[in-house]
Amino acid sequence: MCGIVGYVGKQKAAAIILDGLKRLEYRGYDSAGMCVLQGGRLDVAKKAGRVEDLVEEIARHRFSGTTGIGHTRWATHGGVTDANAHPHVSSDGRFALIHNGVIENYAQIKTFLAGNGYGFKSETDSEVLCNLIAYHYAKEPAGGEGTSCFLESVRKALGHVEGTYGIAVLCADSPGEIVAARKASPLLLGVGDGEYLLASDASALISRTKNVVYLKDGELVHVTPGAFSISTLDQADVSPVVDRITWSITDAEKGAHAHFMEKEIFEQPLALENTMRGRFSEDGSTAVFGGLNVTAAELRQIDRFLFCACGTAWHACLVTEHLIERFARVPVEVDYASEFRYRNTPLHPNTLFWVISQSGETIDTLAALREAKRKGYRALAINNVVGSTLAREADGGIYQHVGPEIGVASTKAFTSQLMVGAMIALYVARMRDMSFSDGVSYVTALKRAPDLVRKALEQAPHIKAIAKRFAPYNDMLFLGRLSLFPLALEGALKLKEISYIHAEGYPAAEMKHGPIALISEKCPSVFFAPSGEIFNKIVSSMQEIKARQGPIIAIVTEGSELPPGLADEVITFPECHEAVLPIVAAIPVQLLSYYIAVERGCDVDKPRNLAKSVTVE
Ligand code: F6R
Repeated sequence: MCGIVGYVGKQKAAAIILDGLKRLEYRGYDSAGMCVLQGGRLDVAKKAGRVEDLVEEIARHRFSGTTGIGHTRWATHGGVTDANAHPHVSSDGRFALIHNGVIENYAQIKTFLAGNGYGFKSETDSEVLCNLIAYHYAKEPAGGEGTSCFLESVRKALGHVEGTYGIAVLCADSPGEIVAARKASPLLLGVGDGEYLLASDASALISRTKNVVYLKDGELVHVTPGAFSISTLDQADVSPVVDRITWSITDAEKGAHAHFMEKEIFEQPLALENTMRGRFSEDGSTAVFGGLNVTAAELRQIDRFLFCACGTAWHACLVTEHLIERFARVPVEVDYASEFRYRNTPLHPNTLFWVISQSGETIDTLAALREAKRKGYRALAINNVVGSTLAREADGGIYQHVGPEIGVASTKAFTSQLMVGAMIALYVARMRDMSFSDGVSYVTALKRAPDLVRKALEQAPHIKAIAKRFAPYNDMLFLGRLSLFPLALEGALKLKEISYIHAEGYPAAEMKHGPIALISEKCPSVFFAPSGEIFNKIVSSMQEIKARQGPIIAIVTEGSELPPGLADEVITFPECHEAVLPIVAAIPVQLLSYYIAVERGCDVDKPRNLAKSVTVE
């Protein structure tokens, strides 16, 4: 979704902001722009389209100022046009603003401002906020001795808006200053060497500093030359906490890979090692988690778990449900975060509430967490981004530690969520019925996961060849059972989001209750058929497809034998423990989707209409 960059320092702002905008591209956007304050003027360059379309425009402006803001926009209010791109400048020319989020009462404010002589060039809610700041600046003098008129005008304007925002504002009268604020939209201040940066995402500022202050909802930061201060909407001062980003710039770069998605698929063995690191007991029989903030005694009182998430993370919840119920024998419910937040579902009093979110900024997931907390439930988060809103609002949780995931289609974050889910299942199981020796076998199996994933990745050239053959199809079914049913959903989601092929995931045996009507030589099916008690049942489902001329790609355990001629293509993965199976089985479908999308010439890392973190409802 939208991205924010800001710079105040001694260097020329434009080049630094442009670099930040390029690093934010992965989040999904449709226009970009920047504003540099120079010679007492706010000079704006903005364009619908890609950041590269903006580069020429920037060159024409010959920006030389050392204070500026930049934005990537993902349209909500108003179409994708140059005028609707950010930054917006107030009609008196005094303020420039970039905004992530949605101002819900913008229409009302717009009417008021229009009645007071303010004009509008765009259809956006953001321009309304920019003019509202200008209105307060023009109307009311500074709040008192030592206060900044610029800061107070922003504060007053924010006091009148309903909705969500991450904003950064420049004032033509205040060179070397930026005021920024947040409510339900991420914003970080980078504290560099003689310079300050603002960003909605650490990847936009990590090339210049690793020291950051994560702003909280309702906080404003005022950056002045050589200093910054943080305060709340109610004018209370806030003592800043400077955190250190633990990953490095190379983690956010593609290196030798063609796409971030490819890099992240191949990074999974390492990502899994990082997720597990330091999280097993010394006796090797269970998992240990540092930040749960739930004692073992409290956890033993829990009668059920409820997991909420969106998209791929929701699939991780479904796998986790299967593993907790299978190994710990505790009932688990899974809900879409977007449904849970409005469903007012009856909850068992001894429920432990969980959310899973890679970004920790998905608005529906945050809303679900807040609703559970409002109802008095303890709410924990599984999350990859240290300092994210979710991480800060949850009562406790587990960080995934897989480094930044830049590819829009989630891969390494997904398998790491599956790993965390498998570890939770172990942890809870060991508190109940799982024996010490079963615990030790389980831990040993989890520790082998990175090697098994490495082995599964060796199939990449074979899968690439299969992708070439199947790329021209326009429909595909993904079928799996038990813990691999969510993997069928995930395979279908991965394929549709990056290759635009229509795909559906189904429990394999459900296929005959409807989707079988779709089967023909034009609709291939991808089957997960791991060895085990239901292998033969899945083979029967394959036979039903084959009888209707449906092409079949079978994903099977190494050494499994399928009836001759049943599958058109076979992909194997190594034999593994049940808790590791979903992780290893994810690899073939990730690779298949990736290679099909590449074969179809799709922009894999920036699929159309999608955003990396969905911060609007
Ligand atoms: C799909 C994908 C999305 C996200 C979903 C939730 O590849 O990445 O479906 O999983 O938008 O995002 P997070 O995990 O950031 O809450």
